[in-house]
Amino acid sequence: MNYEELIKKAKEARERAYAPYSDFLVGAALLTEDGRIYSGCNIESASYTPTNCAERTAFFKAVSEGERSFSAIAVVGAKRGAKDCGICPPCGVCRQVMSEFCDGDFKIVLADLECNYKVYSLSELLPLGFELK
Ligand code: THU
Repeated sequence: MNYEELIKKAKEARERAYAPYSDFLVGAALLTEDGRIYSGCNIESASYTPTNCAERTAFFKAVSEGERSFSAIAVVGAKRGAKDCGICPPCGVCRQVMSEFCDGDFKIVLADLECNYKVYSLSELLPLGFELK
């Protein structure tokens, strides 16, 4: 699985985003260590707080199916109809959820709609993350 394929899955998931309040559509594709892909989109709520980000949707789908080992996630996010959008870095809550299941070298692939992308590690995006020890 190369990153371009993972980004394609994230873009497809973005098309399924339910975001009538922000109009900000996000898709994610999470790659397990044995090569399976779980996609996710953001799902909003009229009362706002229950909104779930695309990254957490992908993680929760995978973990609830018994997956525990992950190697990478691709994320694509932009306003509906955007052309020139840039990348969508994961929010702090999603970074914390990633750190629950992944170690520091888990790869986070941030892509724009044209599939230009940059790869970060979780340790770069969440230095000194909280752990219960
Ligand atoms: N969102 C994500 O899906 N992932 C992120 O990492 C940042 C934000 C969603 C949540 C909400 O539906 C919309 O983007 C605007 O915040």
